Amino acid sequence: MSDLTALDRVRELLDPALPAPASEHGYLDLLGDEPVDESPAQRLMRSGFLPRIYERFWRPVLIGAMKGPLGPDTRQETALVRAVLALGPTDHVLDVACGPGNVTRALAGDVDDGLVTGIDASASMLARAVRDTRAGNVGYVRGDAVDLPFRPAGFDAVCCLAALYLFDRPFDALAEMARVLKPGGRIAVMTTRRLSPAGPLNEVAGTLSGIRLFGDREITDALSRLGFSGVRHRTYGLMQFASGRLV
Ligand SMILES: C[S@@+](CC[C@H](N)C(=O)[O-])C[C@H]1O[C@@H](n2cnc3c(N)ncnc32)[C@H](O)[C@@H]1O
Repeated sequence: MSDLTALDRVRELLDPALPAPASEHGYLDLLGDEPVDESPAQRLMRSGFLPRIYERFWRPVLIGAMKGPLGPDTRQETALVRAVLALGPTDHVLDVACGPGNVTRALAGDVDDGLVTGIDASASMLARAVRDTRAGNVGYVRGDAVDLPFRPAGFDAVCCLAALYLFDRPFDALAEMARVLKPGGRIAVMTTRRLSPAGPLNEVAGTLSGIRLFGDREITDALSRLGFSGVRHRTYGLMQFASGRLV
């Protein structure tokens, strides 16, 4: 295990051209007072209330309902993420839009001498993540998933779960995830799924809530275009899970 703190190690992965981030809240803050997005869903994520109930109630109930009765529960979903990320003990992992750090912490035990970095735009989510994290190999960054503040090819694995549908430019975010992965790096993405045929309801729901619904090939096609191989697609109700390995 390194003598550096997790935040020191995360700092080394940042784009060196960026100004030094503040760290008084226990995470590296690259956003300051800048809000990233203003959709209703985004505002909810930035509220002080949601982080308190997110992991225990909100995620299992809401995401669970979207995955449907045959979809994986949280434990099975985490097992799937770990399987496709195939983590080694010294790997560096990035959890994009980590929220209160539920997945970030779950991956920490797989990379004892490695590092798990969680990035999120919400200060209240990150405050909760810092509060609930004990592992010495986990560090958090406040930044924009669509414009990741990391140097290229710094990570062995990237995941982005239950969040891509909130981003204003989700395909730019996927390109950013590819940029920060090393060759051979693995990706796991779980996001929403549009039921076909694509009707006006899809569009209205998306516009009002700020939640985007993706077609069944949209994410996997984007991963293939970005240079991922072995791209796999799994569907669970209104959610889809895509994975691959960067060539
Ligand atoms: C529903 S939570 C997902 C948390 C966790 N990944 C999980 O699987 O439970 C979505 C998170 O995405 C974050 N988020 C939304 N847009 C973002 C952006 N542009 N950059 C970084 N984080 C963003 C929100 O702040 C929120 O914490």
